[in-house]
Amino acid sequence: FQTGLLAGKKVVITAGPTREAIDPVRYISNHSSGKMGYALAEAAAEAGAHTLLISGPTQLPCPARVTRIDVVSAVDMFAASLREAADCDLFIASAAVADYRPREVAEQKIKKGEGESITLTLVKNPDIVAAVARLPQRPFTVGFAAESEHLVEYARRKLVRKKLDLVIANDITQPGIGFNSDNNAVTLVDAAGEQVIDQRSKTQLARELVTILAEKLAS
Ligand code: C5P
Repeated sequence: FQTGLLAGKKVVITAGPTREAIDPVRYISNHSSGKMGYALAEAAAEAGAHTLLISGPTQLPCPARVTRIDVVSAVDMFAASLREAADCDLFIASAAVADYRPREVAEQKIKKGEGESITLTLVKNPDIVAAVARLPQRPFTVGFAAESEHLVEYARRKLVRKKLDLVIANDITQPGIGFNSDNNAVTLVDAAGEQVIDQRSKTQLARELVTILAEKLAS
């Protein structure tokens, strides 16, 4: 692993879950730990990049030499990402962004009613990585795809639909890897083809991904 690989480059990484408020005390979220994104930020900083981590709520410490911007909701993450991506060289979207948010956030805590059910209307959140890929001066844009079947096919569809440069695909049915785990195995999917990186620690995987991304940036 070469420490100067990303010297002079600005790298922006989204990580962790987002939280979508329902009322002042409740929210919708997911179990993303943020580990893969934090490992990528650590590796990018080790490689000499000016590294910004746009993070939803996680339990993780900010890696050394990384600037962290804390956000809560998908809309906050969207705003911070678009602002920071405009002048970056590499954008990696590893966050598990909530697909939907409550249409209205109740100003007061919602009281339990008499009825047996209540209805919460959800509206779609903006697609952050797709918006970054549409920027006029777009960075090299990388997304993740967590899939339970047809891994490469679905990842390739994501590559095309979101106009990404690379998709890092994860098979979420494999035990011991992915979401919340310390290990991961991925398949890289881009216009040139596919590349499998088998199971290893997220730290090791992040260094390999950074090496590959630095090569792609340079070519
Ligand atoms: O569409 P899907 O959620 O499966 O795509 C996953 C990829 O898109 C990840 O890289 C994720 O960080 C990114 N994404 C995003 N904004 C969203 C939803 C997903 O940047 N609203």
